Amino acid sequence: MSAAIEVDGLVKRFSGDVLALDGVSFEVERGSVYGLLGPNGAGKTTVVRILTTILRPDRGRASVLGHDVVAAPELVRSLFGLAGQYAAVDENLTGRENLRMVGRLNHLARPVVASRSAELLEQFELSDAADRTLKTYSGGMRRRLDLAAALVASPGVLFLDEPTTGLDPQARIGLWGVIEQLVEQGTTVLLTTQYLEEADRLASRVAVVDHGRVIAEGTPAALKADLGATVLEIGLHDAETAARAASALAHVSEKRPRVFGSDIEIAADGGPRIATAALRALDQEGIEPLRFALREPSLDDVFLSLTGHTAEDGRPDEAVVPARAAGQA
Ligand SMILES: Nc1ncnc2c1ncn2[C@@H]1O[C@H](COP(=O)(O)OP(=O)(O)OP(=O)(O)O)[C@@H](O)[C@H]1O
Ligand SMILES: [Mg+2]
Repeated sequence: MSAAIEVDGLVKRFSGDVLALDGVSFEVERGSVYGLLGPNGAGKTTVVRILTTILRPDRGRASVLGHDVVAAPELVRSLFGLAGQYAAVDENLTGRENLRMVGRLNHLARPVVASRSAELLEQFELSDAADRTLKTYSGGMRRRLDLAAALVASPGVLFLDEPTTGLDPQARIGLWGVIEQLVEQGTTVLLTTQYLEEADRLASRVAVVDHGRVIAEGTPAALKADLGATVLEIGLHDAETAARAASALAHVSEKRPRVFGSDIEIAADGGPRIATAALRALDQEGIEPLRFALREPSLDDVFLSLTGHTAEDGRPDEAVVPARAAGQA
């Protein structure tokens, strides 16, 4: 059986000479969650818009459940649900009315829509708020309703375009739980996100997208293994001290220390062990850090590791001090 979603060599150029997609390919297995991970402007939404038949690609092919999105758009549209970044729900209607409207647009029978809506409102813990207008909903409630709306027609494939961007941590975790339930029921999900943590939690495979290209692909565990499971952040008094500290720290981790002005970051597999070794090494040099913290790797760390610059500001390679140079300093 073919993959649920097949994307092969997609190219899309917008007027103004923006090359939004520069040959994107990936496959999503049936019943799995696939993550497109990338910063603002990477091309994630453009991929989703092509797969949902809103946009035509300039080159390449894409199919959903074996049906080509350009050759059979109407059929493809009956196969998926779409939710996410820009919610397609009506502020002035209640939660239940929104779901009913979606059911009508999908030509579902009235009793089917009524029971399906009640079921989804219950599942997403919106039963109590079902008859209030969306204006009174919190951000997290809106996202849950948006997701419920995408599921009214019981699609086999679900596109989630940055489903949790802008949500507070608690609402984000709540939504992750909801998405996990869907996957248990067999739905195939293509998820876009800017959060490594989100891709890690939900996706079985991830493509890292940068400037319209896939720059890495694999399981989140493999991506994180390349990075080191934790990142040690050390703030020093000034750039000169940071350079001295970097050479003192060159051998505490297999990964090279990175210097950004007066700050140092070290990717580290054994977080606490490396933190201890780092403190000892600094102490021996008589260097006292201003700041010392262990944190989880972020999308920025993925980008630094893969491209030598962060996702946000494209820090140049020169900011990175190779371990060898640091060791010799
Ligand atoms: N209709 C359009 N006309 C011109 N340029 C566009 C259009 N849509 C997208 N772009 C450009 O294409 C590139 C990719 O945009 P896209 O929306 O796919 O990124 P994204 O990864 O979804 O970003 P975000 O995380 O901000 O949603 C960007 O440079 C964007 O400015
Ligand atoms: Mg987008």
